[in-house]
Amino acid sequence: MSTDALVLLKEDHKEVQRLFRQYRAETAEAARAELADEIVRQLTVHSYLEDEVLYPRIRAEVPDLAFEMDLAHQEHHVAELLCAEIDAMRDDDPELPAKMAVLTDAVTRHIHTEEQEWFPKVRAAMGRRELQQIGERMLALRQTAPTSPHRPGLLQRVADAVSA
Ligand SMILES: [Fe+2]
Ligand SMILES: [Fe+2]
Repeated sequence: MSTDALVLLKEDHKEVQRLFRQYRAETAEAARAELADEIVRQLTVHSYLEDEVLYPRIRAEVPDLAFEMDLAHQEHHVAELLCAEIDAMRDDDPELPAKMAVLTDAVTRHIHTEEQEWFPKVRAAMGRRELQQIGERMLALRQTAPTSPHRPGLLQRVADAVSA
């Protein structure tokens, strides 16, 4: 199995896209809720690994991508907010399917940008050995990565900000 960081991340992307398709095709409420949980869990782990391991290395070594890193970080933030809301919803919440559709669109666009617009630049700048080392670090960190989007007080801070 390859430990190349970009290969590992693309495998995650493929898996989450598969889950999004499964969610859209599923009609039973309980099964949809279970898929939503799994999507939230996988996105939380994936974003954590990118934020903790890959993005800082790109900022340090590929300064041309600094603004792309700022954008990607904001897109992770929006996805995390949606994930936290989805995680807190009841299975029969009438807003859940629309919330999932917005998450699907946002994440699909984000994945496309990563894979098409800057993964090739990262590969060219870093080379094979370094990307393998980054991948090994991500695999190790995956064992202890958070699986729930509820960073302490995330939704509360948003509620406080809008009511201020
Ligand atoms: Fe990302
Ligand atoms: Fe990603």
